Amino acid sequence: MYYGKKVILRSLELEDVEFITKNINDIEIRRTMGGMDPMSKEQEIQWIKNTWEWREKGSSYVFAVTTHDGKLIGTVSLFAVSQLHQHAELGIAIYPRENHNQGYGTDAIITMCGFGFLYKNLNSIWLKFFEFNENGRRAYEKAGFTNLSNERQAIYREGKHQDILRMDILKLEWMEKFPEYKLRPPT
Ligand SMILES: CC(C)(COP(=O)(O)OP(=O)(O)OC[C@H]1O[C@@H](n2cnc3c(N)ncnc32)[C@H](O)[C@@H]1OP(=O)(O)O)[C@@H](O)C(=O)NCCC(=O)NCCS
Repeated sequence: MYYGKKVILRSLELEDVEFITKNINDIEIRRTMGGMDPMSKEQEIQWIKNTWEWREKGSSYVFAVTTHDGKLIGTVSLFAVSQLHQHAELGIAIYPRENHNQGYGTDAIITMCGFGFLYKNLNSIWLKFFEFNENGRRAYEKAGFTNLSNERQAIYREGKHQDILRMDILKLEWMEKFPEYKLRPPT
């Protein structure tokens, strides 16, 4: 388990499936995420099992995000991990919506980057988000992501083509900005 200031990152378990399936089918959560199709409980069970396999292979790391008292509030991942280039893409979802804007997303991102930089020898982490995801953009900035660029009209969502934005963070930048993140339990 990896500790941030507000969250803990741990392995996904099969008993998480009901909570994940319910929340991932909330259109207000999904509208700022990649896919929009409804997800069944069986599909989520398979996904949870896949995360264990991907972790063993070192191709993706997907963790449950919980509060310090153990309440599940989402997932965070590093995927498309390149051993050669030592980079990966970050993905995150915090839910239900009542848990937004309380700093959980930012803390989970900083902690997941720490996992990538301190334990998986990554050199850079990047992420993509939709231009209308203001909440995400602010969280990524607070988590130290910079170097904004855009792919014009790259996503068709809510009836129109919209830009996908990209930001990244280097290991050195993370080390400088978040030296207090050791990922260990608070003492
Ligand atoms: C994106 C997401 C992970 C952010 O998590 P979070 O826990 O809400 O983030 P935080 O609370 O750490 O930070 C959010 C910031 O955005 C700000 N914010 C919220 N709505 C905003 C808006 N419309 N415009 C500008 N800033 C906004 C908040 O005030 C907060 O900043 P502050 O701490 O300076 O006040 C979360 O909203 C989420 O899971 N959304 C649905 C799925 C998703 O979009 N995933 C990412 C796909 S790329």
